[in-house]
Amino acid sequence: MIKVNEDYLKLPGSYLFSTIAKKVAAFSEANPDKKIIRLGIGDVTQPLCPTVIKALHDAVDEMADAGTFKGYAPDLGYAFLRDTISEKVYKPLGADIASDEIFVSDGAKSDCGNIQEIFAKDVKVAVCDPVYPVYVDTNVMAGRAGSYDPATELWSDVVYMPCTADNGFAPEFPSEVPDIIYLCFPNNPTGATITKAQLQEWVDYAARNRAVIIYDAAYEAYISEPDVPHSIYECEGARECAIEIRSFSKNAGFTGLRLGYTVIPKDLKGENGESLHALWARRHGTKFNGAPYIVQKAGEAVYSEEGQRETREQIAYYMNNAKVIYEGLKAAGYTVSGGVNAPYIWLKTPDNMSSWDFFDYLLEKANVVGTPGSGFGPSGEGYFRLTAFGSYENTVQAIERIKSL
Ligand code: MLT
Repeated sequence: MIKVNEDYLKLPGSYLFSTIAKKVAAFSEANPDKKIIRLGIGDVTQPLCPTVIKALHDAVDEMADAGTFKGYAPDLGYAFLRDTISEKVYKPLGADIASDEIFVSDGAKSDCGNIQEIFAKDVKVAVCDPVYPVYVDTNVMAGRAGSYDPATELWSDVVYMPCTADNGFAPEFPSEVPDIIYLCFPNNPTGATITKAQLQEWVDYAARNRAVIIYDAAYEAYISEPDVPHSIYECEGARECAIEIRSFSKNAGFTGLRLGYTVIPKDLKGENGESLHALWARRHGTKFNGAPYIVQKAGEAVYSEEGQRETREQIAYYMNNAKVIYEGLKAAGYTVSGGVNAPYIWLKTPDNMSSWDFFDYLLEKANVVGTPGSGFGPSGEGYFRLTAFGSYENTVQAIERIKSL
């Protein structure tokens, strides 16, 4: 019989959102008359904006004409999109990112999961706790996490940076110096942010310790406060120590279209001067055949004047939902945070209920789906995440139901 990758066997249970989907499907089957409101996975509900739809149609028409038909996309992305990102995303932030430092992909989730491949197997990884599960799970798959302790729900070789109410859900420098530091701001799942000065401290820490920060900026479009950085490249020295991962899913509703990108500056080097940019290009070239032309054209359209106006309207719509959730729960006596610079609201479960007990309670009694905080890590125990990505009507109804429990 074939031997399997034993590192995969170490993973406990199924992926968080698959577990939730299974539980909800079972509940729905047993209770077909109940209207379930889903504020669990961070998936958008508003249709793609008109400018993006038009770009998709136009690109499809090009595919129908022998003169403009496109085959394989360039594996690193079409120049029109990489140039647009460099000009429209990074230049206005004063961040010096050239278009050939941008690697277009089919989404931030796969980039978050795959990027660890270019590092040695024995590098030490630090993550926030709670954390987007992809960072940890993929390092487990890569054999980098050591052994799992079911009692503490921690991996022996991973460095955890607890993010709790006491530190405002912002990580502190770990006691053990890591080689790779995953940071996500605005944060999934807590919705917390850090200031530019705080992020600069992380960049300085990484530079001092010759570590690499993997910065997940998937939610930057939701930032509403002025002192919160949109990109790690707003910080001095980040070109030498940071990789940034971005998504079109949350800022433009591409969860079903799939488009994202990773920035690896050419100044970022391994311990013997190896170019991380070159390694990722090599990896991309071998394992990826490029995001579809029509999707990249849609991505370009997001940065047109109309595209920006329309996507900002969608973001405002979701952020209004965030306000409804935040204020509604607060008025009902819940302890809540997030929701100001992020589409996630992080709430303390009532009466010291465990996160999963509250999940079951909410599903059964209010028919509302959320995400148990403990699914993101042990420091998430006793917390719960609701997303602002539902429709306004469902969001209002969900909060009314929760209030009346
Ligand atoms: C989440 O709900 O945490 C995210 O939607 C998951 C993802 O973006 O992959």
